Amino acid sequence: MEAILGKGLEKRYGKVKALDGLDIRVEYGEIYGLIGPNGSGKSTFIKSLLGIVRLDRGELFALGRRAPSKALLKDIGYMPQEPALYYNLTVEENLRFFGKLYGVPRLEEVVEEVIGLLRLEEKRRELVESLSGGMQRRVSLGAALIHKPKLLLLDEPTVGIDPVLRAELWDYFRRATKEMGATILITTHYMDEARRCDRVGFILAGRMLAEGRPEELVRGVGAEGLEEAYVKYVKG
Ligand SMILES: Nc1ncnc2c1ncn2[C@@H]1O[C@H](COP(=O)(O)OP(=O)(O)OP(=O)(O)O)[C@@H](O)[C@H]1O
Ligand SMILES: [Mg+2]
Repeated sequence: MEAILGKGLEKRYGKVKALDGLDIRVEYGEIYGLIGPNGSGKSTFIKSLLGIVRLDRGELFALGRRAPSKALLKDIGYMPQEPALYYNLTVEENLRFFGKLYGVPRLEEVVEEVIGLLRLEEKRRELVESLSGGMQRRVSLGAALIHKPKLLLLDEPTVGIDPVLRAELWDYFRRATKEMGATILITTHYMDEARRCDRVGFILAGRMLAEGRPEELVRGVGAEGLEEAYVKYVKG
């Protein structure tokens, strides 16, 4: 069974076809990297799972339910490409707010955990508006994680995050799948991150070019590495 299954997904914005028959399959418990150029439909696809974007056509399922659906929302954690936080609240107030929204039990403990994980100890009482971009993204990721969702949708979560924390976050992503059984769909433009995914999908102009384990995709086009494979797929 799949954690996410999309068939023939279509979404138009006026004349622009953001999704043009996209097929996608994400297995339970994996880290799936959705990789593609700017404007290829990655964020649109993620938003369609949440119902932020309404699809014109196609079939979409997540966690065994038709998506989008209200019942799914408690099991999904979403980190949007642009942080959507309360800028006039502090870091811990934001985390508490999102935790309450999801009815997280033992919320204070969980807030402490998330603050520790994202190294936000020294910023916890600062207003989000006063934080650097990278710090704001940490809070945004914290808000997506706070209810320990079964499915995490992370839209470029590591942009602007320094290398030390980036490595720690990847360790956390791995633990979330291996130890907590979560499934993670992540978009990234960093090929070193793509390589760390269990499977990746190359998307171009709203269509899936290829899906598979990084090494399969590399072998499939006789490339040296994933970056070369990606370029070969995208350039046709
Ligand atoms: N609200 C909108 N109104 C009109 N066009 C939109 C809207 N959102 C996205 N698009 C268009 O749909 C296409 C896909 O956009 P999308 O944001 O899904 O791409 P992306 O793969 O996430 O790109 P990036 O890597 O830059 O984040 C683009 O051509 C974009 O301009
Ligand atoms: Mg995007």
